[in-house]
Amino acid sequence: MKYGYFDNPNREYVITNPKLPVKWINYIGGLDFGGYVDHTGGSLICKGDPATNRIVKYITQMPDSDFKGETLYIRLNENGEYKVFSPFFVPTLDRYDLYECHIGLGYSRIISEFYGIRTEVTIFIPYRSGRVIRDIKIKNLRAAPVEIDVIPTVEYTHFEAMKQFNNNDWVPQTMQSKAIHEENELKIILQYAFMRKETNVNYFTSNYPVSSFETDRKYFLGDNGYGTWSCPLSLMNRELSCYEALRGDNIAALMHHVGKVEPGETKRIITQLGQCADIQQEKKFIDLYRTEAQVDKSFKELKDFWDEYLDSFQVETPDGDFNTMVNIHNPRQCYITKNWSRYLSLYQLGLGVRGIGFRDSSQDVMGIMPNMPEEGRELIEKLLCVQKIAGNAMHQFNPANMIASEGDSKEMEGRPKYYGDDHLWIVLAVSAYLKETGNIGFLDKVLPFYDKDKNENAIETGTVLEHLKRAIEFTHINVGRNGLPLLGFADWNDTVNLPEGAESIFIANLYGKALIEMIDIMEYIGDSESALKYKDYYESMKKIVNEKCWDGQWYIRYFDHNGNMLGSKENKHGKIYTNAQSWSILSGFAPPDRAKEALGSVNRLLNTSKGIKLSFPGYEKYDPVIGGITTFPPGAKENGGIFLHSNPWVIIAETITGNGNRAYEYYSQINPITKNNIIDEYECEPFVYPQNILSDEHPQFGLARNSWLSGTASWAYQAATKHILGIEATFYGLKIDPCIPDFWNGFTAVRKFRNAVYRIKVENPSHISKGVSKIIVDGSELDGNIAPIFEDGQEHTVKVVLTPDR
Ligand code: GLC
Repeated sequence: MKYGYFDNPNREYVITNPKLPVKWINYIGGLDFGGYVDHTGGSLICKGDPATNRIVKYITQMPDSDFKGETLYIRLNENGEYKVFSPFFVPTLDRYDLYECHIGLGYSRIISEFYGIRTEVTIFIPYRSGRVIRDIKIKNLRAAPVEIDVIPTVEYTHFEAMKQFNNNDWVPQTMQSKAIHEENELKIILQYAFMRKETNVNYFTSNYPVSSFETDRKYFLGDNGYGTWSCPLSLMNRELSCYEALRGDNIAALMHHVGKVEPGETKRIITQLGQCADIQQEKKFIDLYRTEAQVDKSFKELKDFWDEYLDSFQVETPDGDFNTMVNIHNPRQCYITKNWSRYLSLYQLGLGVRGIGFRDSSQDVMGIMPNMPEEGRELIEKLLCVQKIAGNAMHQFNPANMIASEGDSKEMEGRPKYYGDDHLWIVLAVSAYLKETGNIGFLDKVLPFYDKDKNENAIETGTVLEHLKRAIEFTHINVGRNGLPLLGFADWNDTVNLPEGAESIFIANLYGKALIEMIDIMEYIGDSESALKYKDYYESMKKIVNEKCWDGQWYIRYFDHNGNMLGSKENKHGKIYTNAQSWSILSGFAPPDRAKEALGSVNRLLNTSKGIKLSFPGYEKYDPVIGGITTFPPGAKENGGIFLHSNPWVIIAETITGNGNRAYEYYSQINPITKNNIIDEYECEPFVYPQNILSDEHPQFGLARNSWLSGTASWAYQAATKHILGIEATFYGLKIDPCIPDFWNGFTAVRKFRNAVYRIKVENPSHISKGVSKIIVDGSELDGNIAPIFEDGQEHTVKVVLTPDR
């Protein structure tokens, strides 16, 4: 069953059947103000922090047919009888003649036809405007005039999202609403929790006369609350009650009598949902966004923003699905993960104190580097501020108040309170920023470390370079009995939580990769002494990994607290882990023969037709010593599921060894676009990467979950652009070293880099995967594979011919 199609010229995915197996969402706005909209018009909106300043109520776990957050009712008055339906299908579930949800860049547009009425609603947040706009256009397709009422409706939540669920005494006593009556029957409905009536006031308003309104859910549903969202009894009366709620479950429903609409005629109403401190001051902005001209202008600005963002890198290869992903959907997802980290989705509920993940965002930021490096730097600075004096990092932080926490490690007694890998990721992120921009002065920027004195002031500050050096030293010092880095509470794999003393081969490799980046930086800034020291660190860790961790056909993954191996042929469960193989190659530690052998083992033991599993075989029962991984049934999530984040690492490893065909095969088998024909099996959005897919060890092999907020976005984008297409920023220019499937004749790409545009053409006449020894830049042949830095605002042509080694 197909549920929709890709519309590439408009950079949209168009859903044509609302009865999807799970809700599909789209993001609007950002963490400062925004959230998501689902494909039936429901939405979850927050300002600043989803945990502590949530605006509308969206309870993910309720049935998909339910009303969630916001909806729209249309009422037809036919011969004195009312017919009420929602043009979003949910919550009235009427039979539609047409339903389309256009998932666009930064907006969703629902177009539907019910009972001869065509409705088009565009939902978006004008850039940094702090308001959700719903631009509603209603057209009469009938041959006769029809009388129409339009009733947009919002349901509020208590600002403290968790309190809404765990305190039903305090919360309802605090929720209040008030109406402001303006000229021409315009109205603004205010809503707030009593303690915030002077600081955080939610408002809902429109640009059309409102004859009546409702603010209490019980009255809106009618019959003491025994009416339903699918058939609110209050809508059987001409007017709503105009009650201003003093407590209870607050909503805002606005009655607009649009009146008689002639055949072919269209009416337009614009609603706004926002939050402000002082409504009098906000009024001028409300009035501005009540005008159609401003809304049209803002929508155009949104489009311009995305044009510019995507123009940084565009490609044309023989594979259309590859192009669609790399040109549109993957960079969009990178932008979303950069903004939202793991804060808020249908799966990450934004309750409690999770905030921004240190390791997550350090990786996310690398996915937007070609497009918006300075926004990337801003996030990097925040991350560095939660790094500790010792060099390790706090696991999570809230960007609104910069309060950080140790994450789940706090919860398990007697276990280390830090994650062994977090701090190393930031070295990769800073290096990516420096290589993209050449802004080497950033290394001198002074930023605090997280540790505070009793007055909450930072105890120590240090330059960015000092922060990076501390990160390296932390891992250099904190090693276990084999000389490998200590695991801490966990490494990238959050769910293997071994008692104190365990060592991680993954961290050893990440440290190796971080050292390569540090050596690059040191050589570039001319600090040869530090470069030598780091080369020394690198060689010693390489030696240990190769002496202690090679298991015959692959690398092992951990030594536990007793020195026993995990991820070895000796183990019954979890014999082999993907990340130990890919990262031994990303670090450059694996010699060529072992690299090949390890990747062969991945192919033989871990690969499936739907992606590569994280480990194999799955653990069969809960084991408190190993921890979280054993809470999942075999084949799910970290317990041998297809945990997609780790797939691009194998792709990158394959390109390092020159196996372009296998890299491409692995890329294509997880390309979400290819799932568009099997949605009943896959279920999630086919235009973004999910975090996980159930593997062949699970009866529901192929089922995806946790879409949108996954590190897969950044790494799949990096794998495609930097490693398959092979276009990568370096300190010395744009490196071009593709590793493509040998059957491609070549490809073209346009890449913006350091204030110049590189028009790249790669030809592959000998049908090989890899091999660049010279390039032709603006007509002149250059040795090597690096196109120079121009910084002249001009376009330059780069021609590359893949040539076999002679
Ligand atoms: C989740 C976490 C991420 C972790 C991964 C693997 O995606 O957000 O930090 O690396 O799971 O456990």
